[in-house]
Amino acid sequence: PIDPNFDTHRERVEGEEAAAASGEDQDEAAVTVWGPVDPPEKLGIHGTHVAVDYDLCIADGTCLEDCPVDVFTWVDTPDHPESDRKVEPTFEDQCIDCMLCVDVCPVDAIDVDAS
Ligand code: SF4
Ligand code: F3S
Repeated sequence: PIDPNFDTHRERVEGEEAAAASGEDQDEAAVTVWGPVDPPEKLGIHGTHVAVDYDLCIADGTCLEDCPVDVFTWVDTPDHPESDRKVEPTFEDQCIDCMLCVDVCPVDAIDVDAS
């Protein structure tokens, strides 16, 4: 499962490196990325209030379908060993802490900091 203390155990990845770990062709990723990252195999944890471990996510998609406020968007991650797309918590600031995504993910790839 995702490490709920990722923000103390991992380091923030900045700029183009973070964008590359999000499959984005730009200077900055949409959400904070916590390393280490080594694309395409290792993509880190994405987001802070709503955090998704890209290296655990198998693209089940129930989190995205069930989130009542549509926090998640799909990101293509070609050549990642677990799945070729992941959910980015793009609108994590909209999260209402219902914990549904945490409960439904079959691989426990999501952490929501509701404290
Ligand atoms: Fe969406 Fe609820 Fe998960 Fe927040 S906790 S991202 S509102 S499903
Ligand atoms: Fe991935 Fe789990 Fe959602 S596998 S797509 S984070 S339900």
